Amino acid sequence: MIKAEQFLKPAWVRRQIELALPLLPPGTAAALQLGEVRLVEIGAAGHGLVEGAPGLLAYPLTLEGERVGELLLSPPAGNAAAAETCGGLLAHALQGMLETEHGRRSVARESLESYREMALLQRAVTDLNHSLKPAAVVAALLKEFDGRKNVADYGAVFLSGADGGYDQELSFGADATEVFARIKGSRLFAEKTASETGDILNDLSSSPLWSGEEPDLQALLWLPLASHGERLGLLVLASRRAEGFSAADLKRAQTLSSVAATALRNAQLYAAEQKMFQSFVRVIATAIDAKSPYTAGHCRRVPEIALMIAERAHQADSAPFADFVLDEDQRNAMEIAAMLHDCGKVVTPEWVVDKATKLDSIANRLDLVAMRFEVLRRDALIARYRALAGGEAEASANAAYQERLRQLDDDFAFLEKCNLGGEFVSSEHIARIESIARQLWSDADGERHPLLSENEVYNLSVQRGTLNPEERKIIEDHVVHTISMLSQISFPRSLRNVTEYAAGHHEHMDGRGYPRGLKREQLSIPARIMAIADIFEALTAPDRPYRKPGKLSWAIAVMHRMKLDNHIDGDLFDLFLSEKIYLAYAQTHLAANQIDEVDVAPYLAGQVR
Ligand SMILES: [Fe+2]
Ligand SMILES: [Fe+2]
Repeated sequence: MIKAEQFLKPAWVRRQIELALPLLPPGTAAALQLGEVRLVEIGAAGHGLVEGAPGLLAYPLTLEGERVGELLLSPPAGNAAAAETCGGLLAHALQGMLETEHGRRSVARESLESYREMALLQRAVTDLNHSLKPAAVVAALLKEFDGRKNVADYGAVFLSGADGGYDQELSFGADATEVFARIKGSRLFAEKTASETGDILNDLSSSPLWSGEEPDLQALLWLPLASHGERLGLLVLASRRAEGFSAADLKRAQTLSSVAATALRNAQLYAAEQKMFQSFVRVIATAIDAKSPYTAGHCRRVPEIALMIAERAHQADSAPFADFVLDEDQRNAMEIAAMLHDCGKVVTPEWVVDKATKLDSIANRLDLVAMRFEVLRRDALIARYRALAGGEAEASANAAYQERLRQLDDDFAFLEKCNLGGEFVSSEHIARIESIARQLWSDADGERHPLLSENEVYNLSVQRGTLNPEERKIIEDHVVHTISMLSQISFPRSLRNVTEYAAGHHEHMDGRGYPRGLKREQLSIPARIMAIADIFEALTAPDRPYRKPGKLSWAIAVMHRMKLDNHIDGDLFDLFLSEKIYLAYAQTHLAANQIDEVDVAPYLAGQVR
């Protein structure tokens, strides 16, 4: 219903009537009634200015064929004829004004609606273009039709499958998946959706291609999602309304589909690039793992542990991790950093990475030492025969020979033990190594050499582990290489922290780590997580050159000691224990004989020192 009372201002109407009154018989009363509102009333006292009153002149006012009000004139009795002409003129003026205002308002309303539609489209286009994931683009497109009154009851996006057909990706509407499965099974779908352009089919029941697959449906709208000549998918809308879809609905859907197709293509390209980058990362991680049989799987397992810890820190809603957020970008960055944290090892020589014993170089030189001992044993045998030939008593020659063999066996067993690096080598041990080294043996040319070379003495005298200081430096330098390699990758903004996360895995909380000697506050939480994941994986790895696979309780005890020494982050280690992350990991990755009982309560209560 048109509210005409809002179209005319009472003061303006009053002025028009006042201008007309002198032309009317004196004593004429006038009123303008619009809808339920008596807008103006002049000289009404004593007059019956109501419809049907005797002698009343009523001039109807209309808009779009609808009666919206009337001009009422009540001339003195007997003067109706004199008032009629002027009344008609006044009514004509009012009608004209009403129509002008009505027209102006219609134009304004249409402009506003167009503007609203434009604003909605602009917002939709922005949403579509901001979506970097194919699924998000599809969701953004359907959102523009879902819940939009009087347009579609159902909507679905199908994506082009590898077999050239369409796979339903997302839909809206009651039981939409089943509804669209039935629509997809129709001949109409097969024939119409193969065309290059979209269209509307209202009055579905009249189509010979439609067998009532979905009886409630009255109309379908379908549009291919194509970009750069490639058909990426299909938008299908369905309606139960008898009036179906309008040309305006199709136009709007075309605009949105064309934007969505471009956004979808960009998102698919972006996803493909991400996938390619991730596969490169996996190739590098596999190459590092493949380089040493002893650390096989390290670069694959460290990310799992790191992400398990990060996930729990993210879920924690109280201090110290209340502010730690693991969103998708962060998760990606951590996973890539964990896979690449040891990428510098590609330039570390294998014989250092895998150095199982102190005399390992490219080959284990203990075998050479063993041969020299064998030479000395034979020298002893020759000495025995010479003694006997020289007339020495057999008992005495045998005793000297046996004593020499015992001494050689004892020395070699001692060197063998030193070579393993399992125990601390004291200064007394070093003195004995040097003394053994001073014994001489003869080569094939009869040349005399010390039993151990200088380099062999140097390596056997390593007090802890198997690496000498130079080799330890080579090993530690793998992080320097990691940093230098990762610094050359131009990471996107979302992955800008990868290098920092990967570079900190050998830093200690007290600043005594390497390569940069950073302290806890200089390391991000992900970098600190990396250190714990790296150590836990190494301690529980199935095979290491220098020891057997560690049991869970032993690994936890070692790491607890590291926490007390301010080597690893105490808060993260406590989270690792309290959330039983070690156990969840162990159950899927460790051998059953490694998983023993761990009582974490005393560790968490600070009772273990
Ligand atoms: Fe490392
Ligand atoms: Fe590592």
